[in-house]
Amino acid sequence: MPKSESLLFLKRLKEDGIEHVHVSKKSKPQISNTRTTDLPKNVSEDMVHGPDAGILKLRDEVLKCKLCSELARTRNKIVFGAGNIQAKLVFVGEAPGADEDQQGLPFVGRAGQLLTKIIEAMGMTRDQVFICNVLKCRPPHNRPPAPGEVVNCRPFLKRQLEIIKPKVIVALGNHAVKALLQTEQGISQLRGTFKEYEGIPLMCTYHPAYLLRSPGEKRKVWEDMKKVIQFLERSEE
Ligand code: URA
Repeated sequence: MPKSESLLFLKRLKEDGIEHVHVSKKSKPQISNTRTTDLPKNVSEDMVHGPDAGILKLRDEVLKCKLCSELARTRNKIVFGAGNIQAKLVFVGEAPGADEDQQGLPFVGRAGQLLTKIIEAMGMTRDQVFICNVLKCRPPHNRPPAPGEVVNCRPFLKRQLEIIKPKVIVALGNHAVKALLQTEQGISQLRGTFKEYEGIPLMCTYHPAYLLRSPGEKRKVWEDMKKVIQFLERSEE
């Protein structure tokens, strides 16, 4: 990557105030023409020159997207996703709500607080996983994603998952399950089962917002998450 391009890249990152993006220490940068000491604190060389650069390029594209005219008009912030881009586990929700639209971060409202508790109960932190949604923009009044919006946004999700290459995906709720598996089967039929998305095991479970309305169902989600933990532990052996 030419130096002018990488400087432009850095400028954009600084302007955007990148947060919650994992800084890789493991992998070696492929090209190195900027000293690490010149980079902002939360940006590694890999994010500019190396294997992590793909996620930033994608993020730039997502942040410019105007494919869904209504969402582009009504959104406040686009919610790309947040967490560790080398995560073994990715959670996929439906779409940003009001809090997420304000902050530009996924799952930060009440449902997000419950998702944080679920992740912590699994023995992890939000910084160890990646969290994103099917739609990157908030549908007005939190209406469900329209089919055309899912079609427009799904390629972004596909590329996120191609770059991150998690060991497991957790699809939260009906919209995530349907968008990823392109199935007519609903969440009540699929919950608790592993399916496959592009060769990656995908656990279908209830959305945390549903659990807020039906707390009696939390136990089922915990059963599902135990299966995910077991799968991850076995894949480490
Ligand atoms: N619900 C979702 O599906 N995603 C969010 O980011 C927040 C609430």
